[in-house]
Amino acid sequence: MITRSLIVGCGASLPQRRVTNFDLAKRVDTSDDWVVQRTGIRSRHIASEGETTSSLALAAARQALERSAIGPESIDLIVLATTTPDHTFPATATRLQAELGIRHGMAFDVQAVCSGFVFALAVADNFLRLGQARTALVIGAETFSRLLDWTDRTTCVLFGDGAGAVVLQAVEGAGSVDDRGVLSTHLHSDGTQYHQLWVDGGPSTTQTTGHVRMHGKEVFRHAVTRLSQVAEEAIAANGINADRIDWLVPHQANFRIIDATARKLGIPAERIVLTVDRHGNTSAASIPLALNEAVTDGRIKRGDLILMEAMGGGFTWASSLVRW
Ligand code: UT7
Repeated sequence: MITRSLIVGCGASLPQRRVTNFDLAKRVDTSDDWVVQRTGIRSRHIASEGETTSSLALAAARQALERSAIGPESIDLIVLATTTPDHTFPATATRLQAELGIRHGMAFDVQAVCSGFVFALAVADNFLRLGQARTALVIGAETFSRLLDWTDRTTCVLFGDGAGAVVLQAVEGAGSVDDRGVLSTHLHSDGTQYHQLWVDGGPSTTQTTGHVRMHGKEVFRHAVTRLSQVAEEAIAANGINADRIDWLVPHQANFRIIDATARKLGIPAERIVLTVDRHGNTSAASIPLALNEAVTDGRIKRGDLILMEAMGGGFTWASSLVRW
């Protein structure tokens, strides 16, 4: 018997305000046509004053707990992936812990930008498999809009805000690929690419929050290569073929990246969960938001095999195979 992490519920939250490409075209020199053709994004949700990373995370976490029929008192680990914490410290996860009324266990943030959710899932999965925790909340939550330079059309049209959460529970089982739970996680980083996608501020350098800066073409080139590599790694590690995958739930940065990666893997379009058109790139929140959508509308069913993959600043890139 081995211990595995079962995903017992999920939830999500989006800011009220929806901003279309037409709205953005009034602020910067862009057009709906350009943004749709280059990225597939049509609109995104942007946090209003008072909506924060922790408030979005709290709504997503509450929904995930309700759907799992698990009370906050059972949670002994909170791992929150974010690039946009409420404050430089403490970890936003501790604020969430307090708001959920949890006074035990541990709560901390993980920072791997757009790969953050898969990194957080891997961290929690390892804690559960080692027996250091039994029931975990894993959240990806961002108010990425607060890092944007709203005069820079090359970045401000790409991102959005939101949060998604899952509840993980340690279960004992035979550990086969057919058993439910997190089957594998594969994480990578390459800091030599630090300045391809970064924020030009921070407490120890400029004492400012800074703005997102990106060499889009380079990020795009690396993304397609690394995402298909890390997805292949998950497939090979589990001894399966790509045609066994029921759903690809990719990080939602750009439809062209998702499409190119899926083609390399041989996964047909009807098995890809897409939210990029309505959410834009919500960084660490994008995978759990997409996951939640497909679970809520009934596409993802118990026993389905789900491949998640993501790539972001650092660079970081990661995949996870999950039997739902
Ligand atoms: O999670 C990882 C996060 N990031 C990503 O995954 C992003 C990866 N990169 C991309 O998705 C793409 O590189 C972008 C969507 C960012 C850009 O698409 P592209 O096809 O690489 O366009 P480009 O940067 O080569 O720009 C083409 C043209 C340029 O004009 P010139 O030099 O040809 O005259 C840009 O100035 O498009 C111009 N442009 C825009 N035009 C209208 C750049 N941004 C815009 C815009 N509206 N918003």
